[in-house]
Amino acid sequence: GASRYEAESASLSAGGTIDSNHAGFSGTGFANGANAIGSYVEWQVSGPASTLTFGYANGTTTARPVDISVDGTVVAAGVPFPSTGAWTTWSTVSRTVALAAGPHTIRLTATTADGPANLDYLDVSP
Ligand code: GCU
Repeated sequence: GASRYEAESASLSAGGTIDSNHAGFSGTGFANGANAIGSYVEWQVSGPASTLTFGYANGTTTARPVDISVDGTVVAAGVPFPSTGAWTTWSTVSRTVALAAGPHTIRLTATTADGPANLDYLDVSP
């Protein structure tokens, strides 16, 4: 099964906060990254894995794209996190990403001034 890494144990760039004001999240909260280009949310995870699944909400009508990097290398650029219709409506975005055994740093970096969507967790699946 997947290993879940909650966003409340992630590292956020300046201005990001861990919030709990929009119901329906996993764990005790979610990451509200700063509304800025380059704003990021970063997890430390353990491989091996083949799939990364991000729980998120985007209550705006505009996608919130991010670059996904592994250990500092972008492996998926401009991945859209589409509108979920409300900040309390949570969905997932998945990407196939091969992670070797051992520790890895997964970072989502916003590519627009809107910053990232609200991020709830990262599931790492074998
Ligand atoms: C609202 C919402 C936040 C969200 C923010 C955004 O302020 O309450 O949870 O992060 O919009 O646009 O990013």
